[in-house]
Amino acid sequence: MKYDELMKLIANRRSCRNYDPERDVSDTNLQKALEAARLAPSACNKQPWRFIVVRDPELRKMICEKGLLPGIRMNWLADAPVILVICSTEKVVTHWLAPILSGIQYQLIDVGIAGAQLNLALEALGLATCWIGWFNAKAVKRILGIPATLSPLALMPIGYEKEHAQPTPRLAMEEILRQDHWK
Ligand SMILES: Cc1cc2nc3c(=O)[nH]c(=O)nc-3n(C[C@H](O)[C@H](O)[C@H](O)COP(=O)(O)O)c2cc1C
Repeated sequence: MKYDELMKLIANRRSCRNYDPERDVSDTNLQKALEAARLAPSACNKQPWRFIVVRDPELRKMICEKGLLPGIRMNWLADAPVILVICSTEKVVTHWLAPILSGIQYQLIDVGIAGAQLNLALEALGLATCWIGWFNAKAVKRILGIPATLSPLALMPIGYEKEHAQPTPRLAMEEILRQDHWK
């Protein structure tokens, strides 16, 4: 894939908050997108990402009703035929001891990279998604029987968008980039 094609994919991606409840997502496409996540790089190659594909309508309903935090209305979540729960494991050396010295939570970076690759693969497959961080991790753990060794970090509804959302603004390059020193 050439740079222009990749940029087109990246620029065309939107957070989807408008899913078509009539269009299901095939296992084949889901597996293809998850494969992009599986191949992500990670600190010490610990691959801390774990995924739960939730298709069961009752479980999805419970997540929508009891698994979200108040304040942001996300009724649209109920229309997505799949909710992917993205979790992280925590390894003693890389995720507990190393951050004491570096101050960096490597597993959050790792899972973020895997999620970003997943997002782009979904986009390439004509599927839509939205990162959801405003959820009640404890409640979702309870609903799905997620063990104490896994921390849910994000929900990702997956489906077909009814309409393509407008692009959201980004900071200009000069606001995010400096040369040599941050001054
Ligand atoms: C870690 C993370 C958490 C997010 N949580 C939510 C959320 O809880 N609900 C929501 O509607 N959007 C959520 N978003 C989507 C952002 O609002 C969205 O990515 C941002 O506004 C840029 O828009 P775009 O994705 O369409 O380019 C989240 C995005 C990220 C990366």
